Amino acid sequence: MKRLLLPALLCAAMNVQADTPQQVLAGLITVAGGKALPSQGEKLFRGKFSGGKSAESCTACHSDDPKAVGQHIKTHKAIDPIALVAQRDRFSDPAKVEKWFRRNCPEVLGRACTPQEKADFVAYMISVK
Ligand code: HEC
Repeated sequence: MKRLLLPALLCAAMNVQADTPQQVLAGLITVAGGKALPSQGEKLFRGKFSGGKSAESCTACHSDDPKAVGQHIKTHKAIDPIALVAQRDRFSDPAKVEKWFRRNCPEVLGRACTPQEKADFVAYMISVK
């Protein structure tokens, strides 16, 4: 009985384990049609846009330095660094990633981010050294 239970428990534990950021990125790249360019992701991160609901740039809340702690422009709450190298639990939950793209892109761009923008952005944040 014990011999059967242990592998079953291990499988259950593995199912709830978070994805790696590389797996999350691979999923975004698939939806985007096959590639991601970190340089384009940096342009999205640093770009100044008009037409957003509350901010002109992602950096308004996430700070100019993706490795630094950010600050929410409305609530003034601290935001953990957005770059993976500085915050190891970034981009490990596809639902969380989608939720925040869905919320933040309209804040800055006044529209949803495209699949390509999402893939590029995450590729950039994973590539930051
Ligand atoms: C108004 C403030 C604000 C702006 C502007 C903003 N963000 Fe965020 N962002 C947040 C907050 C708050 C969180 C959630 C807290 C956290 O993850 O530390 C977050 C989290 C995220 C996440 C989730 C990361 C993960 O760990 O999975 C992504 C992706 C993201 N933002 C992308 C963007 C992009 C792209 C832009 C620019 C188009 C942007 N954000 C602009 C406040 C902002």
